[in-house]
Amino acid sequence: AFTTPAELLDVLAGARRLCVFSGAGVSAESGIATFRQPDTGLWSRFDPLMLATLEAFQRDPALVWGWYEWRRAAVLRAQPNPAHHAIAGLAARLPQVCVVTQNVDDLHERAGARDVVHLHGSLEAARCSRCAAPYAHPAGIPAVTQGGERMPPPACAACGGPVRPGVVWFGESLPMQAWARAEALAREADVFLCVGTSGLVYPAASLPQQAARAGAAVIQVNPDATPLDGCARWNLRGPAGAVMPALLAALG
Ligand code: APR
Repeated sequence: AFTTPAELLDVLAGARRLCVFSGAGVSAESGIATFRQPDTGLWSRFDPLMLATLEAFQRDPALVWGWYEWRRAAVLRAQPNPAHHAIAGLAARLPQVCVVTQNVDDLHERAGARDVVHLHGSLEAARCSRCAAPYAHPAGIPAVTQGGERMPPPACAACGGPVRPGVVWFGESLPMQAWARAEALAREADVFLCVGTSGLVYPAASLPQQAARAGAAVIQVNPDATPLDGCARWNLRGPAGAVMPALLAALG
């Protein structure tokens, strides 16, 4: 079992404004692929320039739409894992807990987290690429069986334009409100808990540093070392699905 440093527990138990900052690693134990893990990572199997840029969508909308529908199908089939549940559990245990996630899945919400800021959008938030009208996905699991399978995007009901995934692509700016809120939460946090991110993609990866500079105690949960190690007061080397429940249990 995971043993938690006593001083870390005191800091976490006394957190008045906890900000949890999550990346793909928090969903790994739900069976959702991360991006940069060797072999299983999405970017070692697919080319982000072909799938995760506006140019890629304009060049081949069906390839891009199909790929995100394939990822959305995987999320719909997945369940929140103990890390998601423990993070939601912290909110019931501490006065103020918010989640700032880079993930585009809704597993934090499905585990009961109420205040979730999506920095990179959401697979559930598709919108028209022309008039930005929100698109409501039909119920059920999309019939895309593998990444790379083409599926023409739906036409917007309002203007007929091609609907696009509601995620932030490389080269696109983050949703302004989400980013402003995330920076404010990082600066106000007295404890900043990074879970399952490689800390490589900016501006999101600047949040732990902003929190540390503003005086927060930064804690990182990741089986591997990351560039965030330097600004973390504690680096808990383990899978979030084991470490997070242990932290919550140790709080009593
Ligand atoms: N528990 C905790 N962390 C884990 C686990 C686990 N079970 N399994 C893997 N990890 C860690 C890996 O060690 C790695 O540091 O999760 C991290 C995943 O890193 P990335 O795949 O780079 O994912 P992320 O940091 O979320 O990527 C940021 O990059 O491609 C863009 O927009 C995309 O939001 C994404 C952003």
